[in-house]
Amino acid sequence: MPILQAEHLEKTFAAASQAGAAVAAVCDVNLAIEVGECVAITGASGSGKSTLLHMLGGITRPTAGSVMLEGIDLATLDDDALALVRRRRIGFVFQRYNLLPELSLVENVALPLVLDGVPFLQSNAAAMSSLETVGMEHRAGHRPDELSGGEQQRGAIARALVAAPAIVLADEPTGALDSVNSRRVIELLHRLAIEQKQTIILVTHDASIAREAGRIIRVQDGRIESDLPSTGAPR
Ligand SMILES: Nc1ncnc2c1ncn2[C@@H]1O[C@H](COP(=O)(O)OP(=O)(O)O)[C@@H](O)[C@H]1O
Ligand SMILES: [Mg+2]
Repeated sequence: MPILQAEHLEKTFAAASQAGAAVAAVCDVNLAIEVGECVAITGASGSGKSTLLHMLGGITRPTAGSVMLEGIDLATLDDDALALVRRRRIGFVFQRYNLLPELSLVENVALPLVLDGVPFLQSNAAAMSSLETVGMEHRAGHRPDELSGGEQQRGAIARALVAAPAIVLADEPTGALDSVNSRRVIELLHRLAIEQKQTIILVTHDASIAREAGRIIRVQDGRIESDLPSTGAPR
């Protein structure tokens, strides 16, 4: 069974004004992703990559079609149940980290567990272990503004991993990083797919990063233009 499956997935945004036209951001997307795959989604700006990723991750509800995560049709879940699935089964990494500035790094990483009612000692230990995975445990007590962009993004990845999600979705996670830090973040994501059998879906418009994934899905005007194994993958 695929871990993630989309069928006839669509998202149309209503017109902003009566004179405007509706935007078909994603049209008739079909895909199936297996456990442990590392998939790159690529395409021009405005082609619908983020909208697609948000629907796959249960952040946005589709206007038509379905998303099945681990055999569960996300459309059958109410908002509370969907929030739980997002917190427990899906790790989301954003281009701009989205760490809370008033919390220390370890508090940021522990937050998904704290929100889920996990006791402090346990959530703190899990957060420290997640920080070790990304090589950031020595910065646990620092606030985000005391860290570089690359360090903040590794922290954000630690937060995405803390609940041991089945799948990690990353939307242009290196978009705000220099080449050295981009490299570290991408290597980290690949390592997770291999060592922890985590399923990784990564949006990028960097062709060299896309080539390193095992599979490349190209999106154009909201549709899948091609979905092919990558020949440049390192494994
Ligand atoms: N909340 C929204 N309301 C209206 N239009 C949107 C919204 N989000 C995205 N769009 C439009 O949908 C299309 C795809 O956007 P997006 O998924 O962000 O593309 P990408 O991530 O590939 O740059 C664009 O035309 C964008 O303007
Ligand atoms: Mg985008």
